[in-house]
Amino acid sequence: MKKTISTSSLRALVAEAYDQVKSATGGANADYIPYLANVPSDLFGIALCLPNGELIEAGDTDYVFGIESISKVHTAVLVLRQSGADELLAKIGADATGLPFNSIMAILLEKDHPSTPLVNSGAISACSLVKPVGNADAKWQAIVDNMTDLCGSPLVLQQELYKSETATNFNNKSIAWLLKNYNRIYDDPDMSLDLYTRQCSMGVTARQLAVAGCTIASYGMNPVTKQQVFPSALAPKIVALIAAVGFYEHTGDWMYTSGIPAKTGVGGGIMGVLPGGFGIAAFAPPLDDAGNSVKAQLAIKYITQHLGVNVYGGDSIEITA
Ligand code: DON
Repeated sequence: MKKTISTSSLRALVAEAYDQVKSATGGANADYIPYLANVPSDLFGIALCLPNGELIEAGDTDYVFGIESISKVHTAVLVLRQSGADELLAKIGADATGLPFNSIMAILLEKDHPSTPLVNSGAISACSLVKPVGNADAKWQAIVDNMTDLCGSPLVLQQELYKSETATNFNNKSIAWLLKNYNRIYDDPDMSLDLYTRQCSMGVTARQLAVAGCTIASYGMNPVTKQQVFPSALAPKIVALIAAVGFYEHTGDWMYTSGIPAKTGVGGGIMGVLPGGFGIAAFAPPLDDAGNSVKAQLAIKYITQHLGVNVYGGDSIEITA
């Protein structure tokens, strides 16, 4: 069914979602990275960005938090921009692993077979593919510039978070070298891991993530800067990656209940994409057992369920002024 909704009704719905979810309890900050354990756990924000650049926000939408695994989407976009869809599929893949984000088992099981840039192994592999290969500084600049392009404004490295992650990323070190063992890393493993750790430590706001989500929803056109960030033909590839594994081993449950592809991060952020519709982001640090923000999930689901939107065939909405 085609539905028309005014921007003011959408604004009221976002405010209502905020009010309904703000006192939800449950979950705890990520504690395997010491920095994240100390972020105030009562922060909560929702931001929705429309293709005309209009932002609808409630709560702490300009609080800067760690982007963490949501950065995997950004760097997958960069690899697609630099090397194209075929190269990404051949060198990394687009399959869900069905296992947690940092699984070593997934690499052992799929050693002859690619996985996805949206789990740790594939994300470290994606950093290794970023051009120019062999030049850490230039690769980092490309990663940062691409994040700015998608979010419409610069992100800032959170040095304390970067230090905290670097001091504790033993599992990821194993992943980087296991990838080397199976010829699935395409630059120096330590350098690729450092790029991954740094990109996870970038500070972002819910507002910036909503803009990035809307850039993907708008087939590569950043709604705020009006820059065509990536060729429109790549948009379905990016959405397919997110829909397959945005919530790792819980992606099916998420898609079934929310109806839209979204990517989580242990910093408490979630970035969702309704292709042709809008980008949405929510942020709240306490995570459930699977490592996903409790309130951000509730908030996004509240909005998508009330709108009836669903990429598998829900209502299509036209947003009017
Ligand atoms: O690799 C890690 O452990 C973190 N830097 C990122 C993890 C993350 O956000 C997982 N996703 N929900």
